[in-house]
Amino acid sequence: MSGCPLGHGSSTLPADSMPTRPSPQLRRWRQEAPLVPLSYRDGHEGLMVTRYDEAKAVLGDPRFSQQPQRMPRSDAEIEEGVPPGPLDEAGVLATDSTNILGLDGAAHLRLRRAVTRRFSARASRLRRPAVAAIVADQLEVLIDAGPGADLLALYAEPISIRVHALVLGVADHLLERYARDYVHGAPRQQQHDLLREAIDHRRETPGEDVISDLLADDDLSDVEVEGLLHMLSMSGRDTIAYMISTGTVALLDEPGQYRLLVEDPERVPAAVEEIVRFCTMFVTLFPRTATEPITIGDVLVEEGTTVSVSAVSANRDERRFEDPDRIDVLRDARGHLAFGDGPHGCVGQQLARVELDEAFRALVTRLPGLRLVSTEQHQPGPLAHPVATYAARPVIVSW
Ligand code: HEM
Repeated sequence: MSGCPLGHGSSTLPADSMPTRPSPQLRRWRQEAPLVPLSYRDGHEGLMVTRYDEAKAVLGDPRFSQQPQRMPRSDAEIEEGVPPGPLDEAGVLATDSTNILGLDGAAHLRLRRAVTRRFSARASRLRRPAVAAIVADQLEVLIDAGPGADLLALYAEPISIRVHALVLGVADHLLERYARDYVHGAPRQQQHDLLREAIDHRRETPGEDVISDLLADDDLSDVEVEGLLHMLSMSGRDTIAYMISTGTVALLDEPGQYRLLVEDPERVPAAVEEIVRFCTMFVTLFPRTATEPITIGDVLVEEGTTVSVSAVSANRDERRFEDPDRIDVLRDARGHLAFGDGPHGCVGQQLARVELDEAFRALVTRLPGLRLVSTEQHQPGPLAHPVATYAARPVIVSW
C-alpha cells in the first residue's frame, strides 16, 4: 500500500506480547483504528485488522485471497527452529500441492472436504472415550513425576501428539518416531519418510482414520495423500499443547478461576471457549490479499493490499467482549475468533474442544489443589510459525 490513509508510519508486530497479556500496543492500535499499517518481511506495507467486527468481515469475504503468502515476520525469525535439509521431489510436490491455507475457492474446498469427515462434531464426539483414556494415562505420568513437574512436557504435549496420531491413523509402532519428528522437529526428508511408512501401513491395514479415508478417496493422488498428512501433522498439534499448558497458567494466575471448575467440572466446556479466547495463539492469522477495492468498516482497502487479521486483538476487543483482559470462565465467550472464521476456519476445532474439555476436566477433578510454580509464559518470548503465533513453553506445577 502506498501512503497510509490512516496517517500512520510503518509498524512491525510489537515484541512485548505474552500469551496471557498481549502487548498494550495492540490495545492502542485497536482504539485508534480498525485497520493499522503493518510491515511485511519483503518490505511492503499492508494492514492489520485490530477489531472484532472487521476481523470477522475480512475472514468471511471471498474477495480476499490467500495468495500470495507474505508473512509479517522476518526471514531470520521464520528460519529459526525450522528443520532444514533437502526434500525429494515427491515430498516437495506433496507439500506444495496441499498448502490448504494458501488456496482459494474450489481448489481449497476440494482438499478441505477430503479431510473434514474425521473432524466433524459427531466424529469428534465418538473419539471422546479414546481421548479420555489418553488424558488419564498422561495424568498418571504427571502425578508420578511429582510436584515440580512440567505440565507441558508430561501432559499437554503427549496428549496432543497421541490424539493426533490416533485420529490421523499413524500406527502405534511409529508413535515414538512421530512424536520425536513432529514435536521436536526433524529434517524434512525424515518427516516425509516416516509419513510414507505410516501410509504404507494403512494401505495394508486400513482403519477408522484419516489416512485410510484419504487412501480410499479416488480423487486424490498419492502425492496429495502424503501432502495432506504432512499438512495435518503440522496443524493444530502444537496449538493443543499450547492451549492446555497456557490455559492452565491463565486459570491458576487468576484467583478463583481454577476453583470454579474444581467446584463444578460441568463448567469446563464453557470455560474452554473462554480459555481459547483469552489465550488466543494467533497474533496474526495467515495474510489475505484484496482482489478488488473492498470497504471494511469505514476503511477502503485498495486492490492488492495485504491484510492480516489479529485474532489476539479481535478477541480482546472491548466492543465485543466486556472487560476482555479478565479471564472469566463463567462468561459466554462463544463467537471468539481463536479458531479463525469463514472458509478457512479451523478444521480441527471440534476435536480440539473434546481434547481441551477432557484435559481440563481431568486436571480439576484429580488435582484440585494444582498450583503454578513457574512458567516462561509470563515473559515475552519469540513468536512461532511463519505467521505470528505464541509458542508453548514449560509450565512447572505443584499440587
Ligand atoms: C486449540 C487448538 C487449535 C487452534 C486454536 C487452532 C487454530 C486455527 C486457526 C486460527 C486457523 C485459521 C488460520 C487462518 O485462517 O489464517 C486454523 C486452521 C486450520 N486448523 Fe486449526 N487450530 C487448532 C487445532 C487444530 C487441530 C486439532 C487440527 C487437526 C489436525 C487443526 C487443523 C487445521 C487446519 C487443517 C486448518 C486449515 C483450514 C483451511 O485452510 O481450510 N487445527 N486453526
